[in-house]
Amino acid sequence: MQNLHLITSLLQTNKDFMNILAIETSCDEASASVVQNGRKILSNVISSQIHIHAKYGGVVPELASRHHLENINFVVAEALAKARLRINDIDTLAVTQGPGLVGSLLAGIMAAKTLSLIYRLPLLPINHIEGHIYANFLEHRIKPPFLALVISGGHTELVIQRDHTHYKILGRTRDDAVGEAYDKVAKLLDLGYPGGPVIDKLAKKGDPQYIKFPRPYLTGSYDFSFSGLKTSVVNYVSKHPASSVQHLADVVASFQQAVIEVLVNKTIQTALKLKMKKIVLAGGVAANSALRGLFTDKIRKTGITLYYPSPVLCTDNAAMIGCAAYYRLKNKKLEYNQKMLTFKAAPNLQL
Ligand SMILES: Nc1ncnc2c1ncn2[C@@H]1O[C@H](COP(=O)(O)OP(=O)(O)OP(=O)(O)O)[C@@H](O)[C@H]1O
Ligand SMILES: [Mg+2]
Repeated sequence: MQNLHLITSLLQTNKDFMNILAIETSCDEASASVVQNGRKILSNVISSQIHIHAKYGGVVPELASRHHLENINFVVAEALAKARLRINDIDTLAVTQGPGLVGSLLAGIMAAKTLSLIYRLPLLPINHIEGHIYANFLEHRIKPPFLALVISGGHTELVIQRDHTHYKILGRTRDDAVGEAYDKVAKLLDLGYPGGPVIDKLAKKGDPQYIKFPRPYLTGSYDFSFSGLKTSVVNYVSKHPASSVQHLADVVASFQQAVIEVLVNKTIQTALKLKMKKIVLAGGVAANSALRGLFTDKIRKTGITLYYPSPVLCTDNAAMIGCAAYYRLKNKKLEYNQKMLTFKAAPNLQL
């Protein structure tokens, strides 16, 4: 009787746990993570390929997918080992469906579909940008509605999230994504790849007012544009080659100041106009220290609360995919079904 009671209570406890094994390979990081109940990261293994692509100044898609194929099994095994779980302890699988590089996406999707088929585990395809937004839910207790600023290597978007599945894109970049602008400016100045973290660090030593680069506000629209600003940096460097070397930190600090002023002012003005009480930052550029600082300063006295993830959760990782999957599923138990395996990689998937 006592044993029976013990077994029943164990079953009840187990029922409270939802372990999601998530896989993310949309670009040049292969990542696998086990997330428990949507918020507790049991493991988050990220295998970066930066050393492979750095010499080319950007991601080479063919190399990225080839390395994902070689790596993904080890990354998944390590994620399970670090979580101290076996595949039998996993309730649901999640994988990034898109947007991203098609070859890279396919590597993660094929790994997830194979696990799903062999172990009869339900599999949920997840939007990578939704994942970036949900990185915030891993560390903060947030409830929609909120205004999200998605700033990454391929996206710059102002999004209203009304509830856990409804998004409205208010505006997006008309040309370069903000992370792309950082990477291109860093390449121009021979600072290495990826450019964002290098510029972030170097700009701390520079004068952000040294050059008054243009602030592309596109007044009257929620859209962004960063290619003109990037061209202004190109023009400055070609006209002042000596000063660009001597005052390198000032040049990057001035470029960064123009970028962050536009992002911060435009986002806060939009939130005030639409009476949104919460702003959520998402994507790799959300790791930028100057951006976080300016947002924190300017948001004071507005009554708006600002959220952003820890730097490691801003860039690509599978924990954010597991978290997004949990909130998609919440209160619904997904059952395995072979039809789940028919979805395809979607390189241009929209929110
Ligand atoms: N501290 C930082 N400051 C500014 N930019 C940064 C910082 N850290 C990373 N980035 C930039 O973030 C980008 C990478 O972010 P992320 O991994 O979210 O992009 P991605 O996955 O390539 O694109 P997307 O998410 O749009 O598909 C790069 O452009 C990188 O330079
Ligand atoms: Mg990304």
